[in-house]
Amino acid sequence: MTPIGVFDSGYGGLTVLKDLQAALPDADFIYLGDNARAPYGVRSFELVYRFTLQAVEYLFSHGCPLVILACNTASAKALRTIQQNDLPRIDPSRRVLGVIRPTAEVVADYTTTGAVGLFGTPGTVASQSYDMELAKLHPGLRLTSKACPMWVPLVENLEADGPGADYFVKRYIDELFALDPQIDALILGCTHYPLLLNKIRQYLPAGVSVLSQGSIVAASLLDYLRRHPDMAARISRGGTTQYLTTEQPDKFDSLAAVFMGTPVAARRVELDEKR
Ligand code: DGL
Repeated sequence: MTPIGVFDSGYGGLTVLKDLQAALPDADFIYLGDNARAPYGVRSFELVYRFTLQAVEYLFSHGCPLVILACNTASAKALRTIQQNDLPRIDPSRRVLGVIRPTAEVVADYTTTGAVGLFGTPGTVASQSYDMELAKLHPGLRLTSKACPMWVPLVENLEADGPGADYFVKRYIDELFALDPQIDALILGCTHYPLLLNKIRQYLPAGVSVLSQGSIVAASLLDYLRRHPDMAARISRGGTTQYLTTEQPDKFDSLAAVFMGTPVAARRVELDEKR
């Protein structure tokens, strides 16, 4: 089997996986969540890079010709180095793609004021990856960012719909819009955040469009496979998904079922530097 690999630090990438499955229903997928070492959002560049490289090498060694980093933090801190330094050494015929570039490509379609807001993990915001991509692709747009260190823990502890989430959702929204009240397009630059969407919409000023990263990444992958038929032909087409986690599978299964809306049965794996 030669599935598409989908990687995230934990559960967040499942919001992307769902859209990838809908876009490519006959493709095989392996989802890998590094739950034992999540969250990545507060970790150093060096660690996020090392952990992400281990995950990519694991997925390659399990047959994936293509890996999607369905994690903004890993895309921000590890993707470029893996593409430029590691892939040529490991296997130049394989590919690793991220979520930041496809999101930055389409953002101009969502704004009329030219003011764009970004919510992300502290790591993604500090990396300035979105600022750099937007400066390249849409230099006329103005980006204002806000790190949301409390949102991933709320999601991972199944509190996204609980009353405790309201305080931190409202607080980060108020802080972002105080910095730039003109914002009319909002990037949820962390794949965990769609789970907070109900509450985010509740506190968002009227008329603000929210970019849905899962469908954007899925559309971008379809376009990539159309332009690279050789890669499209390498992906096995059994319509299956395997779920792998570095933590206890029973915990993964119950939370992943919330993300996916269907039962999930994961297997535990170890990532190490020897692979
Ligand atoms: N889901 C990851 C992202 O998109 C972040 C979660 C974490 O901090 O590990 O950035």
